[in-house]
Amino acid sequence: MDRRNSPIGIFDSGVGGLSVWKELVAVLPNESVIYFADNANCPYGPRKQDEIEKLASDVVDFLISKNCKLIIVACNTATASAIDFLRLKYTVPFIGMEPAVKPAALNSKTKRIAVLATEGTFNGKLYNDTSNRYAKDVEVNIKVGDKLVEIVEKGLINEPETIDHITSLVKPLIEKEIDHLVLGCTHYPFLIDVLKAALPSHVNIVDPSPAIVMQTKRVLELNNLAKNENCKPEYTFYCSGSSSVLSSMLKEITDADYDVNEL
Ligand code: DGL
Repeated sequence: MDRRNSPIGIFDSGVGGLSVWKELVAVLPNESVIYFADNANCPYGPRKQDEIEKLASDVVDFLISKNCKLIIVACNTATASAIDFLRLKYTVPFIGMEPAVKPAALNSKTKRIAVLATEGTFNGKLYNDTSNRYAKDVEVNIKVGDKLVEIVEKGLINEPETIDHITSLVKPLIEKEIDHLVLGCTHYPFLIDVLKAALPSHVNIVDPSPAIVMQTKRVLELNNLAKNENCKPEYTFYCSGSSSVLSSMLKEITDADYDVNEL
């Protein structure tokens, strides 16, 4: 069997990784993709490292059993806590999420940027290394996106309470005169319209998904794993909890109906 025709695996604690999935299927339209939402265990953000390693490892075992040739950890928190562990344990190539501090720092005029992410991401070594490496000359304001993952998982994106909550969350960042806001959690791009409305128009919101997908393309090519045949891709979805939010989010972003398998 030609390994190049195997699917790409992608997972998150919930629907957030669909922000990466959407970019992935647009940029690599031949590739088949298996998406796994570990929503029975969402959120990952407040969990301890060893717990996240175990959860991520269980999902990876499942994706490998489905013959995935490469796995995207479409979750900043799982990347921060578990990617080193996963790379040691498995031979399949992994792509992880990294908050886009570098482009924000390079493009900032006010030299003040902010990163919005979960507690787990900020506690990880990866975030601190990236921030120290790329943001020496800028002030980086970090903000935990309290309750934002839960809001997206519950489908409460446009509720008035969400708008109020986000408005007060970003207020201290506006006071700091930031000109870039880095989204350090894959759930947050689904809140981009609310964030835009709450921020002054000159603040750029940086979503790392395009860079992650370009990195995926490079790693596939480097490992001779890019799809060989020009046939219709298959998109498959699994979740460990209820399928309802995943199905409705998919409908919203693709305008198509997909079956989501509950495990
Ligand atoms: N989408 C995940 C991330 O990128 C959410 C984390 C969580 O479950 O708390 O960090």
